Amino acid sequence: MRKLTLALIVLLTLPALAQQQATPTPAQVAAAAQPSNDATWWKHAVVYEIYPRSFKDSNGDGVGDLNGITEKLDYLQNLGITAIWLAPMYPSPQVDFGYDISNYEAVDPQYGTLADFDRLLHEAEKHHIRIILDMVMNHTSDKHPWFEDSASSRTNPHADWYVWNDGKPDPTNGKAPNSHKGPNGWVVPPNDWSSLFQGSAWEWVEARQQFYYHFFYKQQPDLNYRNPAVEKAMFDAVKFWLDRGVAGFRLDAITTLYEDPSNRDEPLTGKLDASGFPESNHTLTSGLPDVHDFLQRLHRVVASYPGQRMLIGEIYTPNTAALRSWYGIAEKPELELPMDTLLGFHKEGNGITDAADPSLNTAHFRKYITEAEIELGDHTPLIVFDNHDNVRSWERFTTTGESYDEKAKIARIIASVLYTTRASSLTYYGGEIGMTTHTPTRREDVRDPIGITGWPKEKGRDGERTPMQWNDGPQAGFSTDPQTWLPVGDDYKTVNVAAEQADGSSLLRWNQTLIAIRAKNPTMHDGGIVMLDNENPAVLSYVRTAMSGGHAIVVSLNMTSKPQTVHLDLTLAGIKTTRVKTLLGDDASLNSVSDVSNFTLPPFTSLLAEVQ
Ligand code: NOJ
Repeated sequence: MRKLTLALIVLLTLPALAQQQATPTPAQVAAAAQPSNDATWWKHAVVYEIYPRSFKDSNGDGVGDLNGITEKLDYLQNLGITAIWLAPMYPSPQVDFGYDISNYEAVDPQYGTLADFDRLLHEAEKHHIRIILDMVMNHTSDKHPWFEDSASSRTNPHADWYVWNDGKPDPTNGKAPNSHKGPNGWVVPPNDWSSLFQGSAWEWVEARQQFYYHFFYKQQPDLNYRNPAVEKAMFDAVKFWLDRGVAGFRLDAITTLYEDPSNRDEPLTGKLDASGFPESNHTLTSGLPDVHDFLQRLHRVVASYPGQRMLIGEIYTPNTAALRSWYGIAEKPELELPMDTLLGFHKEGNGITDAADPSLNTAHFRKYITEAEIELGDHTPLIVFDNHDNVRSWERFTTTGESYDEKAKIARIIASVLYTTRASSLTYYGGEIGMTTHTPTRREDVRDPIGITGWPKEKGRDGERTPMQWNDGPQAGFSTDPQTWLPVGDDYKTVNVAAEQADGSSLLRWNQTLIAIRAKNPTMHDGGIVMLDNENPAVLSYVRTAMSGGHAIVVSLNMTSKPQTVHLDLTLAGIKTTRVKTLLGDDASLNSVSDVSNFTLPPFTSLLAEVQ
């Protein structure tokens, strides 16, 4: 797995590491087994992340844009998605491809205009698709006028909008790394805090003769949320977009909003980052209690708008108890949907190891689905397997030993989990067709700065951001410009939307069918969940319970390369019969399964069967 993710997991969650998981109580299990009848849209959402540079280029400059997304709304509606999470499209110098914002209330000209945005919003609504914006609150671009002002002197109106520090005396008088001559002699950064994107988190500005703090790139200075004017400015930006009609926000790196004012050193992890700098463990720079208070205030702003507006949080936690804390409590809600990355990204550290099958691990899946579905109580989990920061799940859940067909079956298993549990789902463009990761092989081709500075240890995130593969024509139908901003994946001749739309057994069709079942079948939409056959090391099974008069649905997924015979006992879910009819299966032999007390799943197959 990409180092960045691991680092994020550690940093965003360390304070919660001590919390232990409890075994679900019988009352929790019984509550999860009950169907619900809550139509709140985000409790059933299929959120589709679009990285705007890479989705569809409408004006032939090699970079995707908003009008390109509007062109593809029919496709997205047919796929069945209910919301788009749009990665940042605001004006930006694009050092971190939009995560360095220089104006929170406009659109970057390379993606279009505000009018294009409004048209996208309006057309999306006609397609029953909501738009969720990415709100990057922790930091701005160093080219944002707030920072340019702040960095110009110690007395300007924005002087206290960022995290500035005089540094501490350098006993070596200028020989230490990052030593600078300040008004009172040579100084070095106040502490050992490291940037997640390599090197020290402190950068010197001569005009102020002070250091500023940056959790990410030095071009992304952290805002100072201890200054109420900063919170107000950010809430104004949020209102600007809510007034236009967005459904909510995905809050970028939200746990890193506050730093410990003591400025003490953080413990070091003992590792060097890809640039050779000692990594600190971020316990004083992430997950501080102030973030929860901030989220409660932000939630009040968002909830004051009609139409079930909502907040998704970029959260990586070490366990479900820590994840639960980001929902807040009933009288003080925080996030509607903190991302549940435990299942998709967090194998490490969970104590489960299976050398033969390192990623597609039944026990791992069962553990985290059980926890998300049963221990989060009334909260809705948001299960995530893919995003723009991580190697695509296609590679993470397969090994080099499997054939293409086997890998595609594994992708169907992942999709089945994503769309048949009780959770909301978050998917990433191209995942539905099985796009693969195309990591650059030469440093000179890398666009993501962490890949340039970290090469060859860290190759950056370009591989998972390559252009969407629409067809087998030039540039895979993404752009008319042969110079696309990242090269098109070399598998586009076969892995593309057009080819998979024409093939009834494709991964795209599988995703489309699953999403349709989830939307239209009352049991998939509202049913409770009971985990089955809990000791089975090879096959993950659960049943979605039905409203009275409806049909329960059994889901059974063979996570191994061998056929598996399964014996399911549905009395655990209060169901007396074991007679079923296949709803969906990815092997012809599964069409005739009629009794779940004894059936066989071929290698890596998925079955959905309706109880009769
Ligand atoms: C998390 C985003 O997902 C990532 O792409 C970005 O580089 C950092 N936050 C900094 O904004």
